[in-house]
Amino acid sequence: PHAELVERPPITQEELAATIADFDALLVRSRPKVTAEVLAAGGQGRLKVVGRAGVGVDNIDVNAATQAGVTVVNAPTGNTVAAAEHAVALLLALARRIPQAHASVQAGEWKRSQFMGTVMRSKRLGLVGLGRIASLVAERAQAFDMEVVAHDPYVSAEYAANQGVQLLSLDDLLATADFISIHVPGTDQTRGMFNAERLSRCKAGVRIVNCARGNVIDEGALVEALNSGHVAGAALDVYAQEPPVGSPLIGHPKVVLTPHIAGSTHEAQRQVAIDVAEQVAAVLAGHPARYAIN
Ligand code: MLT
Repeated sequence: PHAELVERPPITQEELAATIADFDALLVRSRPKVTAEVLAAGGQGRLKVVGRAGVGVDNIDVNAATQAGVTVVNAPTGNTVAAAEHAVALLLALARRIPQAHASVQAGEWKRSQFMGTVMRSKRLGLVGLGRIASLVAERAQAFDMEVVAHDPYVSAEYAANQGVQLLSLDDLLATADFISIHVPGTDQTRGMFNAERLSRCKAGVRIVNCARGNVIDEGALVEALNSGHVAGAALDVYAQEPPVGSPLIGHPKVVLTPHIAGSTHEAQRQVAIDVAEQVAAVLAGHPARYAIN
């Protein structure tokens, strides 16, 4: 009740840096880049907290925030179901080429033999990362009788086994998975994780889903692997550059693309908004935040 809310979705980076010092809190999704410049300007003014309405904080320079004395909070749970459901939707879309078949019928065609699918039952799904979203994907994939394996250096074999998931080395996962779904954050460690070399180590005919962060995949290398047929299909919700203007992925017959909407359901957006708003209010009132990043 004591806050004045200024809503400026189309703000430019320059406007953000120029005006941020007048605000106590900044709430963002993924588009604005909360750079060292923005945070330094904010920290010299009134800015005390940045709330990220979502999980990934790769658009926020967290170290610069810490230096500027600005708390960063995120909403790591509110959109996990939405993201997991989208990843499963993309797995199904790839297996049955639903978007391509839809476009074909819409164009007045009837090419049944061109849209022969692949079954998911008994296929091996490799989850790269076994955090909150991946665990929900595992549960849903198991309902399709898929065999679910994962690679995650930060979880124990016991934690994975409790979910009916076998932990593998990344090499073993790549060599044996029929489907791969990526669930790692966008960090310096994961940038380019799926480069030409790793893609070549994947099982021939693999189908890859990425609802995590775009720069985890080298998109040029992916296009080459799709063109050679080594990768049978890829479904992407995230891109190295968003929107992926001029990317060779656009129009490629073996890809399914969505515009970074995995977390975009009415329910999820409402929940992440509540989660960050509550935390921002708590920080401004001098209380600790539930999900402080720094
Ligand atoms: C997230 O990090 O929560 C998702 O990518 C969705 C979003 O960016 O809002």
